[in-house]
Order: sequence, then C-alpha cells, then structure tokens
Amino acid sequence: MFIGWIVLPVVGFLYLRFGYVPVAVDGPMIPFEELLAGTAVRARIAREAPAKAALAATEEHIVAGARIYRERCVECHGIPGSTPTPEAKGMFPPPPQFFDQKVMGNEPVGQNYWIIANGIRLSGMPGYKAALSEQQLWQVSQFMANRADLSASATAILSAK
Ligand code: HEC
Repeated sequence: MFIGWIVLPVVGFLYLRFGYVPVAVDGPMIPFEELLAGTAVRARIAREAPAKAALAATEEHIVAGARIYRERCVECHGIPGSTPTPEAKGMFPPPPQFFDQKVMGNEPVGQNYWIIANGIRLSGMPGYKAALSEQQLWQVSQFMANRADLSASATAILSAK
C-alpha cells in the first residue's frame, strides 16, 4: 500500500520520460486524455463563460461575424457543403466542421465567446484575444450561435473568394 505511493509516480515518470506517450495526431488516446482534454475543459468553460452576450444578434453583427469566420476559421472549421481540408484531417482532436448537420447544435453564445477568446490548450484551437477586438469576438460568437439560420447575405460571404 505505502510502497504504491512511490512505485506509481516512478512508473508514470518513466512512461513519460522514455517516449511511451502517443503524441502523434493519429496515435491512440493517452491515458487520462479524455478526462483532462474533455471533462476538465468543459468544466472550466462552464465556470467562466459569460452568461449573457455583450451584443445582440442583429443582422449587421452576424454579417460582420461571417466575414471574420471567412477570414480566420474556414480552413479548420469549414463552410456549408465543404469537406474537411487536409489540415483539418491532420489534427487531433479534429476541429469540428461547424456546418455539418451533426454539430449544428445551439451552444450558448457565451460559451462560443469564451472558447474563441481563450482558445483550448493542447488542441489546435487558437485564442483570438490578441487578434480580434472585444466587439469582433462577440460578432463571430453570435455568428456561430446563429449559423443554423443565416440570411442569404451572410451565407454568400462564407463562400466568397
Ligand atoms: C488551426 C485550426 C483552427 C482554427 C484556425 C480555428 N479553430 Fe476552432 N477549433 C479547432 C480545434 C482543433 C477545435 C477542437 C478542440 C477540442 O475538441 O478540444 C476547435 C474548437 C472550436 C470551438 C469549440 C467547439 C465545441 O464543440 O465545443 C469553437 C466554438 C471554435 N473552435 C470556434 C472557432 C472560430 C470562431 C474560429 C475563427 C475565429 C476558429 N475556431 C478557428 C481548430 C481551429
């Protein structure tokens, strides 16, 4: 029993130190990966995400959000009717394809905002706090929250070259 307190950390250290952790994108799951990268991330976001949006989901803000998405997010997250890019296929965890019907869910806008502002560590999701203004962060968050029901002009922006 007592000896376990010494043996376990040593075995854990050797596992890490001697290159047994599968870190390639197509490797198997690392022990505790789901707990850390899944449960812990969701719990932290639930704790910190703002409950209310700082700006309303007007057409003007959603269109502005569509422009930001077109410029910065498409390569990883796709547009309506697209298939994942080679880069998206080469990532673990894979970036969700937001216009795939399976992920058209209505996640709360504050949750989008938190993730877009802060990013998700140990995944490819960048934090955009330094790249976008507070207003732009909320615009793209509102765009995300309303993407199942976009106007024709917002949709047109997404596929514009
Ligand atoms: C370099 C690739 C990349 C770019 C660019 C990128 N993302 Fe992501 N994003 C990811 C990955 C990978 C995940 C999945 C993270 C995970 O599962 O832990 C993710 C997750 C997310 C999530 C959480 C989805 C969920 O199911 O909880 C949101 C919201 C998001 N991204 C929005 C955006 C927005 C908006 C932009 C552009 C401003 C953007 N991302 C740009 C790779 C990217």
